[in-house]
Amino acid sequence: MAIAHLTTSSSFLFLLLTATIRAATEPNADDGYSQLLSPAKLRLRKEKLSHLHFYYHDILSRPSPTAVPIVRPTTNSSTFFGLVNMFDDLLTVGLEPSSKIVGRAQGFYGFASHSEFAALTAQNFVFVEGKFNGSTLTVMGRNAVLSPVKELPVIGGTGAFRFARGYAEARTRVSDLTNGDAVVEYNIYVYHY
Ligand SMILES: *[C@@H]1O[C@H](CO)[C@@H](O)[C@H](O)[C@H]1NC(C)=O
Ligand SMILES: *[C@@H]1O[C@H](CO)[C@@H](O)[C@H](O)[C@H]1NC(C)=O
Repeated sequence: MAIAHLTTSSSFLFLLLTATIRAATEPNADDGYSQLLSPAKLRLRKEKLSHLHFYYHDILSRPSPTAVPIVRPTTNSSTFFGLVNMFDDLLTVGLEPSSKIVGRAQGFYGFASHSEFAALTAQNFVFVEGKFNGSTLTVMGRNAVLSPVKELPVIGGTGAFRFARGYAEARTRVSDLTNGDAVVEYNIYVYHY
């Protein structure tokens, strides 16, 4: 009895000791793949809030469309339900397409409502100017095409926009109902490091 008791307590002591040593060397690594990390290790300092403003040119008309249909619905729908367009649209500082280019919007929108013009939009904004050159922002959400202000969530980003979150407000400034071309003003409010 006494020997059995002694063995139990010494193996308990051994387990406790091993666990303590492991905890000291590999914090939270008892699952083998995760650990707590100090934000300083990723050089994450103060979170900042930025406001981005630009115009987005969605051109469907020939000869050089920047958005093309990639899925055509098999049924006729007054709200284009099922139609998917892929785009690589220019982002400029001004309303005029000839104004300075700051990036591109690349993604697709698919009409997702049976009863109104509302699309699911999934897009990456890729910046080519200034301090955000090379960084991307991912914006995905519902685009109620005819609403005066369309709000879409910023769901993430890369480069300067790692850990990004925020929202975008889109306002259609020019639209040609005959060919579908549109210029949309974007205001993006984004938290990032
Ligand atoms: C859609 O409507 C057009 C014009 O009315 C017609 O020619 C076409 O066959 C219709 N397509 C389908 C899939 O119903
Ligand atoms: C943006 O970054 C690319 C790649 O590093 C570089 O070639 C280009 O000159 C930069 N553009 C500006 C305007 O700084």
